[in-house]
Amino acid sequence: MEKREFVKQFLKDRKMIGAMRPSSRFLMRKMIGEIDFDKAQVLVEFGPGTGVFTKEVIARMKTDAHFFIFELNENFYEKLKENISDPRCHIINDSAEKVAEYLQKHGFEKADVILSSLPLANFDNELRENILHAASDALHQKGKFLQFQYSTQSKSILKKIFPNVEVGFTLWNLPPAFVYSCQH
Ligand SMILES: C[S@@+](CC[C@H](N)C(=O)[O-])C[C@H]1O[C@@H](n2cnc3c(N)ncnc32)[C@H](O)[C@@H]1O
Repeated sequence: MEKREFVKQFLKDRKMIGAMRPSSRFLMRKMIGEIDFDKAQVLVEFGPGTGVFTKEVIARMKTDAHFFIFELNENFYEKLKENISDPRCHIINDSAEKVAEYLQKHGFEKADVILSSLPLANFDNELRENILHAASDALHQKGKFLQFQYSTQSKSILKKIFPNVEVGFTLWNLPPAFVYSCQH
């Protein structure tokens, strides 16, 4: 069901969706494994799609944590709204670039973790830079920006914005994926 929905949205807007199927549980574990759930008070996700990472974050986040979920695709957004009723979650149908605005609206200055599946390589330079600068500005000094990509194309821009970038990799995803764990 989720796979069919994903292909449908991909065929409507390949650039924005960026993948033909949801991420595998192996990739999900690699991304989520980078999060210190005992410490994370404010978490953010960019581009949840059908919610592969989202569900796991909700299951593991602290009872008093807050989770801001940005999904630009209206169809995915509606489905997430239907399926998630957890009061710790704020599901937002707007672009990731506006992260600071929504954090402030809810009384938060900064996030501890930003988890992103945005297809950065498909974006033009301006949008890519705007989103990464917005993420960097919205993160605590010791916060983590986690991004997966199917290539190393965005590594140099990530390094320009976040001086500390560690790269992981999993073969067990279609396509295989690099996981970037970025800090100031
Ligand atoms: C590659 S899919 C990842 C979906 C899911 N996280 C997964 O890994 O299976 C990228 C997602 O980013 C969303 N997206 C693209 N541009 C966005 C933006 N500027 N702000 C928020 N979401 C965006 C797309 O609609 C899509 O759901």
